[in-house]
Amino acid sequence: MAVISIANAKGGSGKTTAAVLLASELVERGARICLLDCDDLKLAAAWARAARLGEGLTLVENVAASNLASPLRAMRSSHHHVIIDLSGARDALVALAVGLSDLVLVPVQGCAMDSRGAAHVLELIDLVSANAHKPINRAVVLSRVNPLVTTRALRNVKSVLDAAKIPVVSTPIIERSAFRDMFETGGTLHSMQGGRISNLDKAVLNMQAFASDVLRLVGAEESWKPRARAEIRTAASDGQPAAAW
Ligand SMILES: Nc1ncnc2c1ncn2[C@@H]1O[C@H](COP(=O)(O)OP(=O)(O)OP(=O)(O)O)[C@@H](O)[C@H]1O
Ligand SMILES: [Mg+2]
Repeated sequence: MAVISIANAKGGSGKTTAAVLLASELVERGARICLLDCDDLKLAAAWARAARLGEGLTLVENVAASNLASPLRAMRSSHHHVIIDLSGARDALVALAVGLSDLVLVPVQGCAMDSRGAAHVLELIDLVSANAHKPINRAVVLSRVNPLVTTRALRNVKSVLDAAKIPVVSTPIIERSAFRDMFETGGTLHSMQGGRISNLDKAVLNMQAFASDVLRLVGAEESWKPRARAEIRTAASDGQPAAAW
């Protein structure tokens, strides 16, 4: 089992979106996932309740620094992975979650404000790692990436990360209306109606590639029994290139 935290001190960088996409795709693949919503706004919790993923998804909310470790211990034997959606706060809960994680994902939009928030989290990870005398695996996720153009700001962020030798998840999370709509409709991409949402097929491919990258980063095999896949036409099944997100 891996504990995967999503953190960035900058609000709105795409933490909850990344957490929800990862959770829903892994549940779709048949994994038992525990989603810890550590944000007072509870957007991940609201999504999880509405998504009704049954026993595939366990939601834990009202998490504080004082009660983080016990649900993690409890979930260890009964779940394949734990995903922790952190708030943009710079508090003890973030430091503790980082210290208990096997992987910290740091979503970064291609803008300077966001990379400053990310720099804070990355410094915190290094500090916790040094204090605990253990390496903490971390990677930046480029989020809300424009599907059509590589902006200068995004190129700058990439080159800064490269120079600092900070790993970047190969699949960026693209800006897609489907990723917003799932919070409004309360469903997963797999349960949405393809005809009504633009580029749903590409959004599904993007989510799948992102989840596969994250599993590789935590060195996890897909050891669970696969669920029957929802009938969604993908760009790949339409005969288009597989990386068409
Ligand atoms: N890839 C994306 N495509 C489209 N919309 C997105 C994407 N990522 C995030 N958003 C939208 O941007 C807003 C902020 O995203 P999100 O809530 O995931 O960020 P956050 O880092 O969790 O914010 P907070 O710090 O407030 O918890 C939301 O309205 C969300 O729907
Ligand atoms: Mg959030």
